[in-house]
Amino acid sequence: MTPSVPTPLGARTPPLAEPSAWHEISLTVNGRPVTAQVESRLLLSDFLRDRLGLTGTHVGCEHGVCGACTVLVDDEPVRTCLTLAVQCAGAELRTVEGLAPADAPLTPVQRAFHECHGMQCGFCTPGFVMTATALVEQHERPDEEQVADALSGHLCRCTGYRNIRRAVCQALDERFGE
Ligand code: FES
Ligand code: FES
Repeated sequence: MTPSVPTPLGARTPPLAEPSAWHEISLTVNGRPVTAQVESRLLLSDFLRDRLGLTGTHVGCEHGVCGACTVLVDDEPVRTCLTLAVQCAGAELRTVEGLAPADAPLTPVQRAFHECHGMQCGFCTPGFVMTATALVEQHERPDEEQVADALSGHLCRCTGYRNIRRAVCQALDERFGE
């Protein structure tokens, strides 16, 4: 029989965490105004996926390492697993679902990923596409080093990255008329 471990005299159960505060936030997501009550500690990734049903934003590492969860917040790529929903009050968000709604053509970045075979399983793809979209929307063409820098924060287990880089370059060529 396994002996039971006695509870040391004076041991106390750790106190339960205080219930976190709730906040009302208003923001724009893919062009739609959204108002919601959120807990202080609710991650943006959970807000988008669980509360708004925008599951195109993928969650891989949950530690800010893989880049799969990237969306655009006021046109800047942001890792939603490291961002709280309350931090986005008043912001304008774009997720992969907002790039080309069902009745719209693919964006140049999406088309380039398709044409250059820049994806295999597709798990990492929404994050890459959002970061590439931010690059393509810049006023000046980023040089190769800037492209490599921007993509270096994204991990892909399938492609070897070559076709992803080709796709981003194709989209940049189209945007800057080269
Ligand atoms: S899930 Fe956010 S960076 Fe990996
Ligand atoms: S395409 Fe599978 S992880 Fe990138």
